[in-house]
Amino acid sequence: MTSKILVIGEVNGQFPHVFSKLADLQQKHQFAFALIVGNLFAHPLTATAEDEESIASLLNGKIHVPVTTYFALGTQPLPPAIISKLESAEEVCPNLYFLGKRTVMKTSEGIRIVALGGQLDANITAGASKDDYPPYYGETDAKILKGATTADILVTTEWPTGVRTRSAVPFNPTEQPLEQHCLADLCSALKPRYHFTTSLGAFYEREPFFHEKNEEGAYPITRFISLAEYGNDKNQKWIFAFSLDPKAALPANPPEGATASPLTTSDKKRGFPGNANSGAQYTYEHDKRPNKRRRGPHKAPSASECFFCLANENISTHLITSIGDNAYMTTAKGPLPTSTTFPKLGFPGHLLIIPMAHQPTLANMEEEERQNTYAEMQRYRCSLNNMLKSAAGEEYGSVTWEVSKSSLMHTHWQYMPVPAELIRNRSVEAAFKALAKNQNYPKFEEADVGDGFEETSDFFRVLIWDPRKQADQYQSFVLRFDEKIRFHLQFGREVMGKLLKLDQRVDWHSCGQTQQQEEEDVAKVKEAFAEFDFTE
Ligand SMILES: *[C@@H]1O[C@H](CO)[C@@H](O)[C@H](O)[C@H]1NC(C)=O
Ligand SMILES: *[C@@H]1O[C@H](CO)[C@@H](O)[C@H](O)[C@H]1NC(C)=O
Ligand SMILES: *[C@@H]1O[C@H](CO)[C@@H](O)[C@H](O)[C@H]1NC(C)=O
Ligand SMILES: [Zn+2]
Repeated sequence: MTSKILVIGEVNGQFPHVFSKLADLQQKHQFAFALIVGNLFAHPLTATAEDEESIASLLNGKIHVPVTTYFALGTQPLPPAIISKLESAEEVCPNLYFLGKRTVMKTSEGIRIVALGGQLDANITAGASKDDYPPYYGETDAKILKGATTADILVTTEWPTGVRTRSAVPFNPTEQPLEQHCLADLCSALKPRYHFTTSLGAFYEREPFFHEKNEEGAYPITRFISLAEYGNDKNQKWIFAFSLDPKAALPANPPEGATASPLTTSDKKRGFPGNANSGAQYTYEHDKRPNKRRRGPHKAPSASECFFCLANENISTHLITSIGDNAYMTTAKGPLPTSTTFPKLGFPGHLLIIPMAHQPTLANMEEEERQNTYAEMQRYRCSLNNMLKSAAGEEYGSVTWEVSKSSLMHTHWQYMPVPAELIRNRSVEAAFKALAKNQNYPKFEEADVGDGFEETSDFFRVLIWDPRKQADQYQSFVLRFDEKIRFHLQFGREVMGKLLKLDQRVDWHSCGQTQQQEEEDVAKVKEAFAEFDFTE
């Protein structure tokens, strides 16, 4: 379904006029919704008596908002009266909603909006910004939003670095907008159809740009548009109307006048179209092998409720220890070991390596995503092994396990240190085999199933690393099973619980930590991992 949308730039307190203009336009055009991408309100410190009055009128219903309107967090703090309203209600007044600082949402028209409001504050280094209202964000906020994986509309306050490269459109602002690398990364990751920002006295609409061809051979296209402010004296556009069909197919060829993406990502590992001098990269052909294993829709509808989906507003972001391009790492909630199980570490060391993609198995992912995701998960595992070696020499090895089951919600790996002695005398291997036998499961085989694509059934695998070996070497055992087996999802934890004599901690619910303990463990992991974190 195609929806008409109206986008508005900086309002800076002039909303009585803007909403009245919006009411006229709404009568003619029937917009599905409006988006205000700049500051809606005047700065509280410089607000005039008139501004205060407008806010009061808005809150007590004297100013009518004619259509569902979402407003972004801009460069200025919100007025205290608006914040206190938002703390107790979803809307400021009928039809007026705050987009939030770091948001992934879907409108009732099925349009997916991702927003990151405010300005980058380099001081927010410890993690994501915790407050919803101050107009600052940290790089972690931008990285977390990459977990949204797609967007129809991206709204940011600042510009992505380099977006004007290769653009012939003139732009003469009195003040250059601030540009951020983390926003270039975010835009490159999400490939939104539209990316809106603001630029005070000047309007800028870039030539559309195309990203790398996707798996279906089509080009994601982004239109970057920066709106001027209401009431600017140069007659620059502060309002922009367009139609959007979130289901529209992507073009097989870049549209006339489009350029390659100007956004260079900070990811140095692979090439990016923004750096390409020739078109050679765009003719990249992916393997046309039919993918027998792919079942169901590419993005399961339950992603918004999934606790492994990074962009889900309800996940515990304080557990995140590192965010890569295709996977991220968190501490386990209710870890099996305690802070004293591995004295040389001083933290439980039970970690989760989670793909960004919301898929039940690695095999369910499209080829390129699957390969990149698997490679990055292995990279995390290796880096963690190097961390163990640095902390404990050859005293601790590691065990990593995965349940690959097509009925699961979101696949992931669990990683845990283990005394190397138990690996060397083969107690770890024996423990997995013994519990499988005890449960009447099929036998473990020694095999490496890689990214799982060649597998035709569900399986459980465990990768065992002996610290005398290189960090990327491992022994791999796989237990393949079918729907006749009621495979216990906590099998890996049960084995490790028995092996480490932590039986009473097998049920993670009984290992709850306070948020403060969790945050302390996360800080310790981050400190130990910093040197080995390839995503920094
Ligand atoms: C960041 O911290 C420094 C030093 O404490 C301070 O001078 C600066 O104003 C801070 N920046 C922001 C945006 O708060
Ligand atoms: C987040 O949690 C709240 C309260 O439990 C719930 O109402 C909301 O739907 C959840 N949001 C998502 C995206 O799951
Ligand atoms: C392996 O080593 C552990 C720790 O030293 C010991 O308790 C266990 O009995 C050993 N197992 C075998 C099979 O040797
Ligand atoms: Zn998910």
